[in-house]
Amino acid sequence: MQKIDLTGKRAFIAGIGDDQGYGWAIAKALAEAGAEILIGTWTPIVKIFTTSWKNGKFDESRKLKNGKLLEYAKLYSLDANFDYPQDVPQEIKENKRYQDTPGYTISEVVAHVEKDFGKIDILVHSLANAPEVKKSLLETSRSGYLAALSSSSYSFVSLLKHFGPILNGGSAALSLTYIASERVIPGYGGGMSSAKAALESDTRTLAWEAGRKWGTRVNAISAGPLRSRAAKAIGFIDKMIEYFKANAPLTRELEAEDVAEAALFLLSPMACAVTGTVLYVDNGMHAMGLAVDSPTLTSEEKSSETALHSS
Ligand SMILES: NC(=O)c1ccc[n+]([C@@H]2O[C@H](COP(=O)([O-])OP(=O)(O)OC[C@H]3O[C@@H](n4cnc5c(N)ncnc54)[C@H](O)[C@@H]3O)[C@@H](O)[C@H]2O)c1
Repeated sequence: MQKIDLTGKRAFIAGIGDDQGYGWAIAKALAEAGAEILIGTWTPIVKIFTTSWKNGKFDESRKLKNGKLLEYAKLYSLDANFDYPQDVPQEIKENKRYQDTPGYTISEVVAHVEKDFGKIDILVHSLANAPEVKKSLLETSRSGYLAALSSSSYSFVSLLKHFGPILNGGSAALSLTYIASERVIPGYGGGMSSAKAALESDTRTLAWEAGRKWGTRVNAISAGPLRSRAAKAIGFIDKMIEYFKANAPLTRELEAEDVAEAALFLLSPMACAVTGTVLYVDNGMHAMGLAVDSPTLTSEEKSSETALHSS
């Protein structure tokens, strides 16, 4: 099998706060392929992440397939809600967790990366946030909706805009999206479904603009459900995982590594002609038009489904 070799490449992954999410798994896959890893961690959780790392809490999950441990060249405190220092509200500036690690706006982080390393090759956006995620869209306030779009969609536009000038030739950017952008997933609220729809649309427009400007490829992965910290905060992740297993074409449990391997491909030269796409990595669930475990199906319909399984 042809091996993906990213030796000499440098990746910035925005949105790693523990070892449970997609960002972490993507960092491991990129590191296994030889890339140097820079991490952007949300400012309020930088201390807990770095302390956990130092105390060995992540040691088991840092293990790479080649026997080495995941390392990062540098971690940057990042709040992707802000582009420039003047955008930061006073109460946030004065928040103790923000005072510990200044320079967290996107423009400042990129300036620091440039000073520390010069250029990068890979940008991964693995972050999302919506303060009103538990509210239905009809109940979501204007500020909650705009906050979801700011954290979860514009943050990608801004990261790419600021990193663009320090991207090497042949660079690639990737974001993570979810099927709720195009199909109704009740409970995925607070404007998050709208934010993912924006992210996917922007993937196409940015592919065109960044492709012509810097030769950068821009893609998204529409990932199936994973029990990450962010997903647990939404409140029904275990049910979603069960639902996928019961109804998707592939009944295996979706692992973060499945998404990470697809990300590795999209971020590697093997995908040099792939840009502007949203790739489903969801055990095929997006293709279904019927929930085969629905109690409204008759027992004959269910048994024909079982027959399909056993044939
Ligand atoms: N878990 C799932 O089921 C699932 C499914 C499809 C897509 N996704 C997407 O995958 C991406 C990663 O999420 P995850 O589920 O792996 O959870 P996660 O908790 O590992 O990652 C989300 C990260 O976003 C960070 N973050 C939030 N606001 C931020 C801000 N303003 N600035 C910087 N960082 C910020 C959090 O600190 C966290 O580290 C998200 O875009 C998410 O929507 C997740």
